Amino acid sequence: MSSTGTPLLAVEGLTRDFVTRRGLFGQPVQVMRAVDNVAFDIQAGETLGLVGESGSGKSTTGRMVLRLDDPSAGSIRFEGQDITRLGGAGLAAVRRRMQVVFQDPYSSLNPRMRVGESVGEPLRTHGLVAGKGEQRDRVAALFTQVGLDPRFMDRFPHQFSGGQRQRIGIARAIALGPKLIVADEPITALDVSIQAQIINLFLDLQEQMGMAYLFIAHDLGMVRYLCHRVAVMLRGRIVEMGPTAQVFGDPRHPYTRALLSAAPIPDPDRELQRQRIAYEIVPPPPGAVMQEVTQGHWVMAA
Ligand SMILES: Nc1ncnc2c1ncn2[C@@H]1O[C@H](COP(=O)(O)OP(=O)(O)O)[C@@H](O)[C@H]1O
Ligand SMILES: [Mg+2]
Repeated sequence: MSSTGTPLLAVEGLTRDFVTRRGLFGQPVQVMRAVDNVAFDIQAGETLGLVGESGSGKSTTGRMVLRLDDPSAGSIRFEGQDITRLGGAGLAAVRRRMQVVFQDPYSSLNPRMRVGESVGEPLRTHGLVAGKGEQRDRVAALFTQVGLDPRFMDRFPHQFSGGQRQRIGIARAIALGPKLIVADEPITALDVSIQAQIINLFLDLQEQMGMAYLFIAHDLGMVRYLCHRVAVMLRGRIVEMGPTAQVFGDPRHPYTRALLSAAPIPDPDRELQRQRIAYEIVPPPPGAVMQEVTQGHWVMAA
């Protein structure tokens, strides 16, 4: 993956504070920093995995990239354009090229809308189809592309399995030909037997369409399989980031080591010998900086 030229996405100093307690007059009394000075790039066509325990700030980071949540500080550049404070028509234009896939497609699909209508909605909203007939043709093609029978387009979400619903969510996300998809734990809610199929669909679509993914995940095995690079989050900070083979093969931060030691290994012999490394969470000291240990592999001083 080339790291020259303008990255597709570049975030710098990204920070999000949530007010967790307010005083009598509504003034903030207690503030929680959910995302703290996060920086990363994603190149066109690249997959960056974002991993870390629950509550580490992964979803908040993804939501800010998508501009579904506003940063307290920092900047987001997409295709070279600063979109941090973009609104109105400018933001709508960006939304065509940046899409989201959620963990639970059931909550993102309107239960009373036929799934073909849901998938076709973005095409309609952006005025990309002339009429009903054209929309049905485009939706049928999208269904085929994600491995669904186009004859199912007049059914409702509850008539599908979890894996099929996630395919519908993905069809909707790719409808406008985005450059970036933020996928927030898209396989976590699915049966293990279905997870690999959905991961393979993400891989196939990337090969066909060349889009980049910010892939937020719990399952490190899937991250290893899917992601070119991985970033490890701990308490709102990225503590390690680098090429997947580097981070998995030579983890440097104690938290990354602990996280990897907790993940099952597919090889039964090695799995039997796997020993968990305990890690008492010690957030990096304020002002700690990332250091490059090998090319493109960055670690925060523990
Ligand atoms: N809207 C919100 N209001 C207050 N706190 C929030 C809000 N959204 C997230 N948080 C808090 O921010 C932290 C990070 O959450 P999140 O980004 O969802 O983490 P993750 O996706 O890694 O599990 C958590 O402590 C969570 O409770
Ligand atoms: Mg989350």
